[in-house]
Amino acid sequence: MTASAALITGASRGIGREVARTLVSEGWHVICGVRDAKSAPPGTLAEVVDMGDFESVQALAKRLRARNQRLDALVNNAGVYRGPSRQIWDVNVLGPLMLTRGLEPLLARNARVVMVTSGLGRLSVQPASLVKRLSNPKLSLAQLEVLAKEAPGDYGASKAALTAMARLFAKELRPRGVLVNAISPGWVRTDMGGPSAPRSVEQGAASVLWGVHLPPDGPTGGVFEDGKPIE
Ligand SMILES: NC(=O)c1ccc[n+]([C@@H]2O[C@H](COP(=O)([O-])OP(=O)(O)OC[C@H]3O[C@@H](n4cnc5c(N)ncnc54)[C@H](OP(=O)(O)O)[C@@H]3O)[C@@H](O)[C@H]2O)c1
Repeated sequence: MTASAALITGASRGIGREVARTLVSEGWHVICGVRDAKSAPPGTLAEVVDMGDFESVQALAKRLRARNQRLDALVNNAGVYRGPSRQIWDVNVLGPLMLTRGLEPLLARNARVVMVTSGLGRLSVQPASLVKRLSNPKLSLAQLEVLAKEAPGDYGASKAALTAMARLFAKELRPRGVLVNAISPGWVRTDMGGPSAPRSVEQGAASVLWGVHLPPDGPTGGVFEDGKPIE
């Protein structure tokens, strides 16, 4: 039997690395989307990608399509917390949007897609203007792309947009049995979360992995942490 295959972005360190490591230990074929090929964890296949550079994102999708790489899971994990808004929205929102779009044809029936979001992306803490746009029932992926190009806000706003993106892809991919969810790892002790965060990398990764291991009748289009709906 062929091993299940997963692509995880931002697998060089932190939560993404732990997700990749765990899936390898479970027998998955793990492809790591990393900026430096040498930074991918052992036992994985490194694919170089800069999630903030759309040519690089599209080139990765093209390489995987060229070899007809079936994907049973896609984990859009790469993210940045600090820096110019433009960069935050490129890496946290536009990169995942383009990558997921580019890989849609490769997603196996019943594949799982996880958008790694944050509690800081809760709609309840976003400005009213953003809430209005993101909660519009007619919001499309094309409109979300327009919004992301405006980069309206900081990290939390970008994660609110990523969460909305999960809902939109979930709707689009439901007929193929693909389950798409936004998952928060909680506040985790990584380079991003810092040493005072209450949760270990393993706990954060477990929250994300829940979305990869969902049964075929599992939820789609939701927002979860530790397997429980949030917001
Ligand atoms: N830690 C927390 O408390 C927390 C809380 C909520 C949500 N999250 C989310 O969880 C995810 C992982 O966070 P983390 O804590 O593990 O962060 P981290 O330790 O800072 O790691 C970030 C990862 O993203 C990659 N990355 C950053 N910019 C990239 C780019 N332009 N192209 C490709 N990869 C890029 C990094 O790769 P390089 O090594 O090449 O820089 C690294 O692998 C992020 O989406 C984050 O927003 C984290």
